[in-house]
Amino acid sequence: MKSNTEKFGKAPHQPSLWTRADALKVHADDPTTTQPLVSADFPVLSNEVFIWDTMPLRDLDGNITSVDGWSVIFTLTADRHPNDPEYIDENGNYDITRDWNDRHGRAKMYYWFSRTGKDWKLGGRVMAEGVSPTAREWAGTPILLNEQGDVDLYYTAVTPGATIVKVRGRVVTTEHGVSMVGFEKVKPLFEADGKMYQTEAQNPFWGFRDPWPFRDPNDGKLYMLFEGNVAGERGSHKVGKAEIGDVPPGYEDVGNSRFQTACVGIAVARDEDGDDWEMLPPLLTAVGVNDQTERPHFVFQDGKYYLFTISHTFTYADGVTGPDGVYGFVADSLFGPYVPLNGSGLVLGNPSSQPFQTYSHCVMPNGLVTSFIDSVPTDESGTQIRIGGTEAPTVEIRIKGQQTFVVAEYDYGYIPPMLDVTLK
Ligand code: FRU
Repeated sequence: MKSNTEKFGKAPHQPSLWTRADALKVHADDPTTTQPLVSADFPVLSNEVFIWDTMPLRDLDGNITSVDGWSVIFTLTADRHPNDPEYIDENGNYDITRDWNDRHGRAKMYYWFSRTGKDWKLGGRVMAEGVSPTAREWAGTPILLNEQGDVDLYYTAVTPGATIVKVRGRVVTTEHGVSMVGFEKVKPLFEADGKMYQTEAQNPFWGFRDPWPFRDPNDGKLYMLFEGNVAGERGSHKVGKAEIGDVPPGYEDVGNSRFQTACVGIAVARDEDGDDWEMLPPLLTAVGVNDQTERPHFVFQDGKYYLFTISHTFTYADGVTGPDGVYGFVADSLFGPYVPLNGSGLVLGNPSSQPFQTYSHCVMPNGLVTSFIDSVPTDESGTQIRIGGTEAPTVEIRIKGQQTFVVAEYDYGYIPPMLDVTLK
C-alpha cells in the first residue's frame, strides 16, 4: 500500500491555524453564541451513574439514526458512590464533587435507548469487564453499518497510553427495548506518532483521542477526525507571526503560550472497512491559543465542511480566553483552509455566570446541539454548586455561511433521529 505522500507526491494540505488574533474576538455572553442558563433544578438521568460525553448512534454520513423506531445513545459513564466510605467527608456527607472529578479514571461505555428521543432508559455496558484493554474507555463514535444492525464502536483506550481502537458488535431490538451484543474483540487502530501528533513521551499532558469516522460527501472515502496535540517536545513549539495573526499594538507578547498546542487530527482509511488507517497532518492547529480541541466532528451543509470541536477556559493560552463550549470552523473543501465561525470560532459557550454548566457539545446535522450538565451554581455567589452528570437541555443553532445563531432550546437530552433503519 502506497503511503499518502507517495500517492500525492507531497503532504496533501497545510493545517489551518486558529490564531491568537481570532481568539481575541471571542466574547463570552454574546446571546447568539451563549447557551441559555441551565436551571439548578434539572432532573438526572440516573441516581446510580454519572454520564458525560454523549455519542448518538449514527451512520457514516453523520445522520443520527434510530433502529426499528428506537433511538440509541452511548455515554461515558461511571458509578456514583453515595454510600462508599471513600467518598464520605469528615461531616458524614457524600462528597459528590470529588466523586464526579474522579470519574475519568473509571469511565466506561454504556448505552441507552428511547422511543421518543429523550427519557432515556439504561441499556447497560457495551463491553463486558475485561474486554477493553485499558482502564479507561474514553469517547468515540458508534456507527450503524447496515440493515443487519452491525455497529462499529470507535473509541479511545486510555491508561496505559492512548490508542484509537474499534470494536464491532450488533444492535438488537425487541418491542421492549434494545440490546448491544458482541463487542468482544477490540482492535487497536493507531496511536500518536511523535512526528505529526505529540506522544506521551514528548508531553505527559498530551491528548490523543475522540475518533469521529465519516465518509467524505465529495470523494466518498472513509476518514476519521480525532483530537491531538502538535508533535514536539513540550515547550519546544514556536508561537510566531502566523500563530499570532494580525493583532493590535500591545498584543504581541505571547507569554508562555508555547505550551498550548491543540490540533484536530485526521486519518484516512486504506480499506473499505476502516481496519487500516493512515494519519495525515492535522486539519487545524491552535498552537499558542489553546491546548485542547476535543471531540472534533463535522456537519456537512450547503456544500461546506463545518468543523466543530469542544474546548475549555482552562486550556486557553496566556493572553487569550473564552468560555467552555463548542467552537467551529468552516471550509469549502475537506482539507481547508478553515476559517473560524463568527470570526472568533465560538459557537456555543457557557454564560459567565455559570461557567461550568455544560460541556462536551455535539452539533448534529439538524442543528441540534447536545451536551451534558457539569455543575450549576445554587447560590448567588456561585460557591454552592449542584453536580450534574446528566443530559443538558438540547439547544438549536442555525448555521448560515460563516455565522451561527442560537435559536431554540428543547428538553433535557433531546436527540431525535434523522432517519430510521428497519433491521432485517
Ligand atoms: C471530553 C473528554 C474527552 C475524553 C473524555 C474523558 O469531555 O475530555 O475528550 O474522551 O472526556 O472523560
